[in-house]
Amino acid sequence: MVKVAIMGYGTVGSGVYEIIKENSFEKEALNPIGVKYILDIRDFPDHPEKELFTKDFDDILGDDEVYCVVEAMGGLHPAYEFTKSLLEKGKNVVTSNKELVATYGPELLAIAKEKNVNYLFEASVGGGIPIIKPMCSSLMSNKIEKIIGILNGTTNFILTEMITKNKDFDDALADAQQKGYAERNPAADVEGHDACRKLAILSSLAWGNYVDYKDIVTEGITEITLDDVKYAEKFGYVIKLIGYAEKKDKVFARVSPMLVSKSYPLSGVDDVFNAIVVKGNYLGTSMFYGRGAGKFPTASAIVADVIESVRHLNANKAYLEWKPSEEGYMLDIADSVSSYFVRCDAKKEQIEELFGKVSFADGIKDGELAFITPKMTEGEFTQKIGDLAKSFIRVLEA
Ligand code: NDP
Ligand code: HSE
Repeated sequence: MVKVAIMGYGTVGSGVYEIIKENSFEKEALNPIGVKYILDIRDFPDHPEKELFTKDFDDILGDDEVYCVVEAMGGLHPAYEFTKSLLEKGKNVVTSNKELVATYGPELLAIAKEKNVNYLFEASVGGGIPIIKPMCSSLMSNKIEKIIGILNGTTNFILTEMITKNKDFDDALADAQQKGYAERNPAADVEGHDACRKLAILSSLAWGNYVDYKDIVTEGITEITLDDVKYAEKFGYVIKLIGYAEKKDKVFARVSPMLVSKSYPLSGVDDVFNAIVVKGNYLGTSMFYGRGAGKFPTASAIVADVIESVRHLNANKAYLEWKPSEEGYMLDIADSVSSYFVRCDAKKEQIEELFGKVSFADGIKDGELAFITPKMTEGEFTQKIGDLAKSFIRVLEA
């Protein structure tokens, strides 16, 4: 039997334990898999296998029988130190921790390669959706041109509740937390940082050079109001938090709320579901869809990686490697192109003088004007609109 350890027995870690407990995956992994340790700072005195629990990381690090370790603690520290020590010791590590992958991915992948072990993170993007492996294998015959994704379950759940049930933002967030979707600090979800880290991971995979999440312009959904939702509806759109990345001469990546046309498939991705549209030069467009967060969907992706590492006993799959990116690798947001939904108190004539022919909507808020501009660079838009806009949201042109 191949022994694994689980670090962090919360939403995700407990799901991993339950799946492995139910099925040792002997056929799939070519060897039966069993859990030898569970590391957590909490006590679980009523757990049916309480003898598996330890609070001492060295129990796992020092046990040569432990082949693969699942890191589901979250956060950067001590997850980084633990992961590094495990890889250096020649153990495989599987994680759902996108913050760690997006921050220390290049270093940890390099150690894994050097030690001929695997650092796998299918669960770090899109919860249960298979996307990391397709990006690294099935899509390899293509040059990836574009990635457009709903990458955060919590915010998509909140927006869906606001749009379909008129629910207030705070109540919807409380529901998402209760369901185990949100990060420990939900600001990471609602301010877009979680989606930003996932987009950084996908962009790094797609184009081979590390995209630092700090270089991705990121806006969350905290400023979105029910009036925005109503205006979007009038124009035939819904509002979604979108991770958008493309490569032309340079790589451009941004996370922000966007108006998504009701005729575009991402508009129908609701609740905790995520979807990632990938455009390849030969394949064209394909969409990966499924549950983006939650105990079992996420644990399902983790266990698949554990099985993968056991199937390739003592071998590095070697399909994951990120080179450093050079200065100027990323496109400046001012040079990115979009059209913009704007709310303002100006007169129609003033707007048409600035932008030419635009489509207007009114009747949501007295005296207020809303319109969608033609496509232009963000630099040009910012310069034209000056301080006229009360708010603006970019419009997705897929
Ligand atoms: P939880 O907070 O539910 O679980 C984390 C567990 O790890 C808790 O039991 C926590 O204990 C324990 N823990 C924290 N620090 C340590 C430590 N130093 N030593 C031992 N145990 C520790 O988080 P989730 O399961 O929701 O998330 C885990 C990871 O998976 C995160 O990186 C998250 O971003 C990611 N993820 C989560 C998804 C989800 O749907 N929840 C989906 C995809 C990814 P205590 O509570 O006492 O601090
Ligand atoms: N908090 C994250 C989300 C968990 O809501 O998408 C899955 O990564």
